[in-house]
Amino acid sequence: MTVHVAWDESLARELIDERTGLEGAMLPILHALQERFGYVDSRAVAIVAQALNVSRAEVFGTISFYHDFKRQPPMGGTIKLCRAEACQARGAEDLVEHLEHEHGVEIDGGYQNGVKVETAYCLGNCALGPNALHDGEIYGKLDPQSLDELFALVARKAGARQ
Ligand code: FES
Repeated sequence: MTVHVAWDESLARELIDERTGLEGAMLPILHALQERFGYVDSRAVAIVAQALNVSRAEVFGTISFYHDFKRQPPMGGTIKLCRAEACQARGAEDLVEHLEHEHGVEIDGGYQNGVKVETAYCLGNCALGPNALHDGEIYGKLDPQSLDELFALVARKAGARQ
């Protein structure tokens, strides 16, 4: 399972620096960036160009030539998990723990398997918590099993959009 993280310049520089000595370093660098971030951010282009002493156009050219490289963050789905008081009282934090342990999800972090989980503060469905929101639909009375089902649904939808 690949975990992509949000763009981070110092991490990008690290990935680039580790590979500049390789023969034909451009491709391993671009692959490493894509593997880590899910795409090759345009902000990486100048750094790669400088590190390899080539023009930005050359880096852009390589990215465009190989269709495997993506220029935009991968599409994914978002689950907003309510962590406000009423949902907390009904076990929202156990669900957070479950997501972290079972799915390696970092709440308010990047995409995991095409799914991003963000904190919400009250979705207006307090009596039926813990609640989550996905694509405008509220999923209430969540427990680890129904959350797994929701997670799998969002991951499937994200996979279908790739
Ligand atoms: S506290 Fe979660 S929906 Fe209101």
